[in-house]
Order: sequence, then structure tokens, then C-alpha cells
Amino acid sequence: MPDKLNLAVLISGGGSNLQALIDACAAPDFPARIQLVISNRPDAYGIERAKIANIDTKIIDHNKYTKRIEFEKRVQNALSNYPIDLICLAGFMRILTADFINHWPKKIINTHPALLPKFGGKGMYGEHVHRAVLEAGETESGASIHYVIPEVDQGPVISQAKVPVLAADTINTLSTRVIEQEHKLYPEAVKKIASERRP
Ligand code: GAR
Repeated sequence: MPDKLNLAVLISGGGSNLQALIDACAAPDFPARIQLVISNRPDAYGIERAKIANIDTKIIDHNKYTKRIEFEKRVQNALSNYPIDLICLAGFMRILTADFINHWPKKIINTHPALLPKFGGKGMYGEHVHRAVLEAGETESGASIHYVIPEVDQGPVISQAKVPVLAADTINTLSTRVIEQEHKLYPEAVKKIASERRP
């Protein structure tokens, strides 16, 4: 098989989407491998998941840097030690600067727990998204995998999956239904990108 796509996965928390990527990469014919997992939170459980899978990890605690650019410099340094083709944001709860993003044109993707362009943008992350969907009385929600551009959550959508919003839904039940879709969608999106990048 042609060369695999080399991934870096950036996380902040539980890392269930990271796990979905780890599991997909375990299949010999999956066209990508994870080279590095970076967390901005020292206590992110996703770091344990990466260690169990024998993947290199790096913790870069954003609280140690007063300027966003200093934090990002550390992230760039860590990435520069690996041949990274694609950066996957998987529950990474930091907004990246335009400088950082422009350094990786069309090479950063993200998973978002709603049907973008709805319910995206600054402040729309994790449970805030599901709360907003419920409060708006939506009858469907879903997950979006998209390219990252400097405008938060506005980059081109790669793929989406829809789920119904039920009358009895809570943030918990809705987020569980959505994240199940993310776990399928994210590896599929990586596969799609790998196939497009092949000569
Ligand atoms: C996922 O639902 C992801 O879409 C969301 O955080 C969760 C992370 O879960 N990301 C955002 O809201 C970013 N705007 P995980 O750590 O178990 O993968």
C-alpha cells in the first residue's frame, strides 16, 4: 500500500475520538498512522489511551504560557519532530491563531458535535453545543468533520452525520448519540483525505 498519512492528534480531555482513530489505525489496511498525541491538559485521559497504544505523547499545558503564541510555539516544536501530514483536533478546546493555522494549510481537521454551520463558533464546544441545540428546539443534530480555517468552525465541511433530537433528550443523551456518530465519521474522513492525497 502507498505511504500512510502521518497524523498528529490534539486533545484536551477524554479522548474517545482519539480512541476511534487509534482503533481504526490498528487495521493494517487503514491508510493512516498516529505519530504523536498532544494534550494541553496534563490530566487528559486521552494521554493514557495513547500510551496504552504505544503512541508518543506530549503534554503542553497552556496555563504555563501567558501568550497564546508561546503555547503554539511549543506545539509547533513538538510537531516538527515528526513527519506530520495531517493534524486532527479531537476534543481540543483551544482556539488556534491564524498564524498557526496558516502554517498548515488544509492540513488541520476538527470534529464538531453539531451540524455546522449551525451551532459553531467561539463558545460553542462540548456540552454548550448540545444545550444550545436543545434550547433552540431543533429536531435534528449531528456531527461535522471540517477543515480548520482561522474563522472558528467555518472551514469546509468534509462529512456530516445526522441524529434525531428526541423530546425527552438531555445534554447527556443527545451528546451520547452524537459522539457515537463522531467515532465513525472521524476515521472515515481521514480515510477520504488519504485517498484524495494519493497520486
Ligand atoms: C467531542 O464531542 C467533540 O466534537 C467536541 O468535544 C468532544 C470531545 O470528546 N469538540 C468540540 O466541541 C470542539 N468545538 P472526546 O475527548 O471524548 O473525543
